[in-house]
Amino acid sequence: MPPTAIRMTDAQFDRLRKIVYERSGIHFQDTKKYVLESRLSRRVEELEFDDFDQYLLFLTTGPYQSDEFQEMFNRITINETSFFRNEPQLDVFEKQVLPKLLESRRTTKKLRIWSAACSTGEEPYTLAIQLHRSLGVRLGDWHIDILGTDISEKVLEIAQAGRYASYSMRSINPLVLKRYFKEENGSYQLDPTIQSMVNFELLNFKDSIAARRFGSFDVIFCRNVLIYFDDPMKLHCARLFHSQLVDDGTLFIGHSESLRNVNVPFEPVPVPQAFAYVKKAA
Ligand SMILES: C[S@@+](CC[C@H](N)C(=O)[O-])C[C@H]1O[C@@H](n2cnc3c(N)ncnc32)[C@H](O)[C@@H]1O
Repeated sequence: MPPTAIRMTDAQFDRLRKIVYERSGIHFQDTKKYVLESRLSRRVEELEFDDFDQYLLFLTTGPYQSDEFQEMFNRITINETSFFRNEPQLDVFEKQVLPKLLESRRTTKKLRIWSAACSTGEEPYTLAIQLHRSLGVRLGDWHIDILGTDISEKVLEIAQAGRYASYSMRSINPLVLKRYFKEENGSYQLDPTIQSMVNFELLNFKDSIAARRFGSFDVIFCRNVLIYFDDPMKLHCARLFHSQLVDDGTLFIGHSESLRNVNVPFEPVPVPQAFAYVKKAA
């Protein structure tokens, strides 16, 4: 795509990043003006505005504010993900956390997992594959509920389709690829059984009330999104996840993320590569 002529001034960047932060908690550092500029200048052109001042007016006072916020989040979020991303951590989930959970839930046979900020769906579908191969023929006896949520509508549409380019498969074992995907014209269609194990919903972490309607979870994965947040937003998210985990629930975060400065009762799981926390009572 050719570059557009619309440029963002420092003052416009400051106003826009403040609005983005208030609405989503995403913190654009001083050095990230080019990200907002490059991702939104075409939108300014599409709307036939002359500059970002007109866009800011439209975003904050126009009749279609909520639609435009959605459009903006579709464009400015970083959605990098893949199947079996950070496999050592997923091994801890599958080989250590999951067997204990299946044992402790053997009477109710109910398990709820939330992939929070799931992007295009590779993470919740990976968890579904792990559940599928762990339970085998017992899967039918269980109520497995895996929820994937994201702030971007665009990524959720891709997730729902369950069709992926080979780039999404860069960390997948070839046997798993063969077992769970069908190759069609250079892309990979996910097995419908795995697809049916996951539901997707739009959710902005800022909206704790909307999050509560999803109920409580045994496990929450929230990986590679806290890096875009500052400490107050991390605290907000940690409180949200704490309140939505069952008492012995586990939270997995990204390998470059931490809850160190966040004062919420979580106990780190003392296993190398786990990057996980167990909920302690508040
Ligand atoms: C880098 S992806 C991570 C995907 C996946 N969890 C993984 O680790 O592979 C980060 C995702 O966080 C989402 N996100 C950013 N801010 C959010 C917010 N305030 N609420 C919900 N999702 C958000 C983005 O849309 C993006 O899809």
